[in-house]
Amino acid sequence: MGCQTLVKFRLPLFTFHSMVDHLLGIEGLSKSEINRYLDTAHSFVEVSERDIKKVPTLRGKTVVNIFFEPSTRTLASFDIAGKRLSADTINVSASSSSVKKGETLLDTVRTLESMNPDILVMRHSESGAPHFAARYLSRASVVNAGDGAHEHPTQALLDLLTLRQHFAEKGRGIEGLKVGFVGDVRHSRVARSNVWAHIALGNEVRLIGPSTLVPPDFVASFGSKSVRVVHNLSEGLDGLDVVVALRMQLERQDEHFIPNLDEYSKEYCVSEPILARCCPGSVVLHPGPMNRGTEISGDVADGPRSLIRRQVNNGVAVRMAVLYLLARTAEPHEELER
Ligand code: NCD
Repeated sequence: MGCQTLVKFRLPLFTFHSMVDHLLGIEGLSKSEINRYLDTAHSFVEVSERDIKKVPTLRGKTVVNIFFEPSTRTLASFDIAGKRLSADTINVSASSSSVKKGETLLDTVRTLESMNPDILVMRHSESGAPHFAARYLSRASVVNAGDGAHEHPTQALLDLLTLRQHFAEKGRGIEGLKVGFVGDVRHSRVARSNVWAHIALGNEVRLIGPSTLVPPDFVASFGSKSVRVVHNLSEGLDGLDVVVALRMQLERQDEHFIPNLDEYSKEYCVSEPILARCCPGSVVLHPGPMNRGTEISGDVADGPRSLIRRQVNNGVAVRMAVLYLLARTAEPHEELER
């Protein structure tokens, strides 16, 4: 499991240095800290609907997005978020960086720090890599944009913002929801961050998938009675308010966890007939990228219960909120200029 790498790096989950804060994970965040991110994101949604989608809030700040793993929506939305706040943003990908020439993570991080960025947004295949960077950076905040199979905090926040908007339209909040994660839970940093968030909100969580993909140690790591494992899809979906379909992450699988994708999808693909039968009022999330026909059917992905496009849209506002709140901690008296 990727999390073993955390032990390799021997790092705490949260690192607070002098005046600099980081967002490394959802684990350990309180309900009010989560709500602070969501409230701030809510106030930024409107900026992206303007004709001129730019505010001067982070003028003069520098955001470096360094991605050691492929990304479409996360990288694009961090870049757009920084630009909409008037920060200077640069994107460095591992394939075009000196990492290809053998540079260590520490040397890469120190090199970037020498250019005085205010925020370093990092995605890495090793769990714990952003925590490692946070430990060595004294002036820049670090945002975890996905570390191995460990955490993906901004994805969990944008998922929550999406649910908040949807359930507000139905006249309710997002506490007391029944939420199920279906599929490759074992390798999913999205599931891990979301589960921590739903535990903080007091929600009921079900992890649904074959036993090879929902291992007991994953569940035990939450130490919460509100997290339950169900191996049968119909039973797991029964009465859920929210279904989160997870991508089959073949790139993280070094052994065979399922017989083959056809067999898997017969038992675990989230399709309209099974949702209509087991949880007719549910909404569906997927972090993307989707494998249609494997973990989610096209009729669900494009159908009325899908909030997937809304998730992508909210990614920008959530990342604006994260950049804003972290940049602001260094300057507590700065006002939000709009
Ligand atoms: C997720 C990720 O990279 O962890 N995608 C994303 O950030 N939108 C989920 C995935 O790759 O399956």
